[in-house]
Amino acid sequence: MGPYRCSLLYFFILPFLVTITLSVDVLHYQTTPHGFAAPPRGWNSFGLQSLEDDQKLILNQDNVISQCENLKGISHLGYTYCSLDSGWSVGCNGDDFGRTIYDSSLFDIPALAKHLHDRGLKVGIYINPGFFEADKEKTIKGTNIKFSEIAATGDQNPGFNCRLNVDWDAPGAQEYCNSNVNLWASWGVDYIKLDYITPGSPDGGTLPVNSSGSVACYDRAIQQSGRDIFLEISWKLDWRIEWAYGIYKSSADAIRIDQDVNNAHESTLVKWATVQRTIEMYREYILEQKQKGVNVPLTAYPDLDNLYVGNAEALTGLDDQQRKSVMAHWVGAGASLLLGSDLTQLDDFGSSLLSDALINEMTHFTAKYPMWPLRGKAGETAGYQHQVWIAGPDPETGVAVLLVTNYG
Ligand SMILES: *[C@@H]1O[C@H](CO)[C@@H](O)[C@H](O)[C@H]1NC(C)=O
Repeated sequence: MGPYRCSLLYFFILPFLVTITLSVDVLHYQTTPHGFAAPPRGWNSFGLQSLEDDQKLILNQDNVISQCENLKGISHLGYTYCSLDSGWSVGCNGDDFGRTIYDSSLFDIPALAKHLHDRGLKVGIYINPGFFEADKEKTIKGTNIKFSEIAATGDQNPGFNCRLNVDWDAPGAQEYCNSNVNLWASWGVDYIKLDYITPGSPDGGTLPVNSSGSVACYDRAIQQSGRDIFLEISWKLDWRIEWAYGIYKSSADAIRIDQDVNNAHESTLVKWATVQRTIEMYREYILEQKQKGVNVPLTAYPDLDNLYVGNAEALTGLDDQQRKSVMAHWVGAGASLLLGSDLTQLDDFGSSLLSDALINEMTHFTAKYPMWPLRGKAGETAGYQHQVWIAGPDPETGVAVLLVTNYG
């Protein structure tokens, strides 16, 4: 067995008897800023959009519906979100008020939302911070303020993705966020992925240095909308910067802590080595949170990126043992469980992982208690890949979840 391979995986619940003193001093999640007590489950389009050209998903209404119809087999387990990634909206301008709107040659979002809601499912959209540069002479809805008046300056505004960053403290900025969210809420949107947030999203070099104000702005916009909307922020958010993490965890419901886990422009969705990188990032993240003290609740769920477990090895890029290991780590972390798989091609192994009764019981547990590394190669805070993780024990019941792995 070579390196980078999970060769042993057990996942079990131990009732602790007399040997553990029960207390509330357990690393735990708390209800998120928008009132969620569990991470989202469902599907996101990005992995399939990123496959090589002749294989990739063309993002449009019919193709999304044919994917998300397949959530019906697992929606009773909580897999209800049907989340569109980049490409659903008009790319370089908004409506008359600068609001982000769907590309009507591809989507009718209110109709999609109705279709999904009628099936007990939910709909998610993808946005970026800032406003469209082409809209700078337009007026923010409900105000006399032009977008040019709320533009940020200097290194806060290099221009990116056809957009300019906002001075998030300027009069009119909040009204802009509100006008967007109120429009999307009127369509029936249940989930927003806010991408390219800084500090974080490190690849570009042309991003504004600090767009964290947009996270707080969209948080307040969601609160005033009165609709239950889950806010996820992306990508590789810099949780090591205390003030930024403070904004993120008090404004967003889930935080992407690493870069994309998927392959880009290949025939498979993911590689095991990349999965290991993301697990290692989670290990560092959760240990840092634990060091702040187990009485400091985690108010946002970690997002380890899409969950690639549903398809056979030829598409997923992982063998069944590795798929099981991905499932175990994403569940153990209490992470978002948005499948990146082709839901029209779930294989028996993938379906059994998703519907496994014990795994689903654990997802309820780890929505309250995230796993952290207990024992491993080199002590609690050092070493690369640890081999025993624990979530809990729950102070009331004494139940804990252990994940035992051998990474090779
Ligand atoms: C970044 O923006 C946020 C929100 O506007 C602000 O609270 C924070 O102080 C800023 N940080 C820096 C280093 O400018």
